[in-house]
Amino acid sequence: MVLPEEPGARSLLDQVAEAERDLIAASRRAAPSSDDLEYFDAVIADDGKIEPRDVMPEAYRKTLIRQIAQHAHSEIIGMQPEGNWISRAPSLARKAILLAKVQDEAGHGLYLYAAAETLGVDRSDLYEQLLSGRQKYSSIFNYPTVTWADVGVIGWLVDGAAIVNQVPLCRCSYGPYARAMIRVCKEESFHQRQGFQSLYVLARGTPKQRAMAQDAVNRWWYPSLAMFGPPDSDSTHSEQSMEWKIKRYSNDELRQKFVDMTVEQAKILDLELPDADLTWNAERGHYDYTQPDYDELMRVIKGNGPCNRQRMASRRSAVSEGTWVTEAAKAYAVKQSERMETAA
Ligand SMILES: [Fe+2]
Ligand SMILES: [Fe+2]
Repeated sequence: MVLPEEPGARSLLDQVAEAERDLIAASRRAAPSSDDLEYFDAVIADDGKIEPRDVMPEAYRKTLIRQIAQHAHSEIIGMQPEGNWISRAPSLARKAILLAKVQDEAGHGLYLYAAAETLGVDRSDLYEQLLSGRQKYSSIFNYPTVTWADVGVIGWLVDGAAIVNQVPLCRCSYGPYARAMIRVCKEESFHQRQGFQSLYVLARGTPKQRAMAQDAVNRWWYPSLAMFGPPDSDSTHSEQSMEWKIKRYSNDELRQKFVDMTVEQAKILDLELPDADLTWNAERGHYDYTQPDYDELMRVIKGNGPCNRQRMASRRSAVSEGTWVTEAAKAYAVKQSERMETAA
């Protein structure tokens, strides 16, 4: 099934493939790394890639650590809302698909923690900061998944918004982050399609199934719009990140792109987006839409969303109850290396 994207725009997956080609070309560029920041400025100006061995401004390094860690935490916490439905999926096929998707999210977390570690931090420290509440994760995962249709809507809208946010990150100036994003985007695109397909089936099912699908869309639409962050007028980190080519588009530009793409897809699903003011604006060449409630976004970010406490409690218990697994794996690794030494 081909999903319509923005009229006239290249498909998101084509953009990822193009970014991948450019990334490989940038890594072959012969420019020697040097100790001074002039090299950093030249690479950024030339749209090249900064690698872990290069000297970089401390603020660039810290910004990336914060952003990549927050992204990694989101992937890991993001396993919970959908994980909630693995044991209750309506068929074996849906269960297998959902299981694979949730495992993909764990993989995304791992690529991202590994990318953050190239900046000189330890993933256990990042983890500690998540558990103590000093680092955040995406606010969207603090909403509950109350029906099976929520799983489809998360794939369609939440993974859909994630791709729109992440495709430009495939061109981020920091090499390890850009490389991780290429793979993540390919997988996210698959997630979005599975969510869309699952909803497509529900929307054509019994009246009850159809109502369940519509109700899920109604609840997730505005939180999905809020995933792009505060409006540009209130966004604190954007300008410097744009200059460093970590961020390529503003929050509002990305949100608009997502709206334009999603309206076309909702028509195929034959489901309504819950916004009476959603209208095509021929002059702007975009849909006009109602903004999400940014006060709600701030409340959720500050820890007062419907499921913040539950998400953190379940993460903490996964760590404490899983300690024996970590210890066993470490003991096994020590034993293996001792065996190798004896054999050598
Ligand atoms: Fe993901
Ligand atoms: Fe995903």
